[in-house]
Amino acid sequence: MTTLEKCFAPAKLNGLELKNRLIKAGTFEGKTPGGIPGESMKAFHLALAHGGVGMTTLGYCATEADGRINENMMYMDEYVRAPLADLIASLHQAGTKVSGQMGHSGGFSKNKELQRRRPRGPQFGINMLGVANGMLFCDGMSEAHIKEMVQSYHDAAIFMKSVGFDCLEIHFGHGYGLCQFMSPKTNKRKDRYGGSLENRMRLPLEVLAAVRKAVGDDFPVIGKISLTEGVRGGLDYDDAVNISRLLDKGGIDGIVTSGGTSTMNPMIMFRGDNILQPMLKAEKNPVMKLILRAVGPSMFRNYPYQELYFLEQAKRVRDAVQCNMVYVGGASTNASFGQLMAEGFDFIQLGRSLLSDPDLPNKAAADAGYKSRCLHCNECVATIEHPAGIHCTRF
Ligand SMILES: Cc1cc2nc3c(=O)[nH]c(=O)nc-3n(C[C@H](O)[C@H](O)[C@H](O)COP(=O)(O)O)c2cc1C
Ligand code: SF4
Repeated sequence: MTTLEKCFAPAKLNGLELKNRLIKAGTFEGKTPGGIPGESMKAFHLALAHGGVGMTTLGYCATEADGRINENMMYMDEYVRAPLADLIASLHQAGTKVSGQMGHSGGFSKNKELQRRRPRGPQFGINMLGVANGMLFCDGMSEAHIKEMVQSYHDAAIFMKSVGFDCLEIHFGHGYGLCQFMSPKTNKRKDRYGGSLENRMRLPLEVLAAVRKAVGDDFPVIGKISLTEGVRGGLDYDDAVNISRLLDKGGIDGIVTSGGTSTMNPMIMFRGDNILQPMLKAEKNPVMKLILRAVGPSMFRNYPYQELYFLEQAKRVRDAVQCNMVYVGGASTNASFGQLMAEGFDFIQLGRSLLSDPDLPNKAAADAGYKSRCLHCNECVATIEHPAGIHCTRF
């Protein structure tokens, strides 16, 4: 079997058989108005299923109501059981497996329906996302709050398994709640949840253990990390290797190696054209527009597109762990898919190339020279709050 044939042949992830090794990366769809997945969410994932992807991922499923960045995200609770079960059943019928990305925004949120007084992070501070909505601060978490957060992952995992998800992906990266604890830049705690890497990893590892306990040993649980936060004093490539070792030892089934943080340096995550101008164009809130103008140039740095832009650092993680490795970041040609298989990666996540063409897996399986048509213009990133949700603006 050639490396490319390997990519398009069935493969197992902790007992779960995928018809190929291509997985749709979690890209928050923006198609859950009022927190409920409707017809456009179904149409979006069905198109991916019909296009032949082995597993699709529902992006950012918040583990509790206050883990949402905004009120139009869904959270994993009984209120959403019927539409979610229906969506997942339709995707199964269309022949794809379904993963759910478990997210919690920790100390940043612009959720107008926040149930608590403030969002909660490692310690009291500025709520980076809420400033424009008058939600200036976040509270620091006590140990009791930390227990509540772990419980929210546990309960969400039980719910997600019962509603039909085939796999769970815990979000440990991109500056979200767990990453805020992992990063020395954002975690200044003096107790056993702050300080050394071992202490900063305590909450993420407790979450992993709680999710594992909820779903059992034979259910796939993967985790997405940031290889680097790309900010001074933040997590960097060496940390990513140590973090991955700890997650591997903690019983994770696969590690997805992404990068960057949503609030400090997002462009590392999706290299290509700078998103500042499209974001400014899409932003409706005048205060947010002003903030974007002020901080945008330092926040949205230029990282030109490069094929397989995380490959070298992801390989370091590959060499350090026993679990499955899931590559993400600029994989857009059959040549890359074959190379990733040859380098020892087990699965490949695709974001923008599948947004630009949901039929990619079927087309690539039929054409050895396949190249995605995605231009890496990143205009889709600015559609996250579009009333129709995310979409490719070019094709
Ligand atoms: C529109 C859009 C939304 C995204 N939303 C999420 C998200 O909710 N969670 C996440 O982990 N990554 C998110 N990402 C990042 C992707 O999962 C992926 O890591 C990134 O696009 C790089 O992969 P690619 O080069 O295949 O696009 C998003 C990316 C895009 C383009
Ligand atoms: S808008 Fe379309 S072409 Fe541009 S990066 Fe997104 S998916 Fe690719």
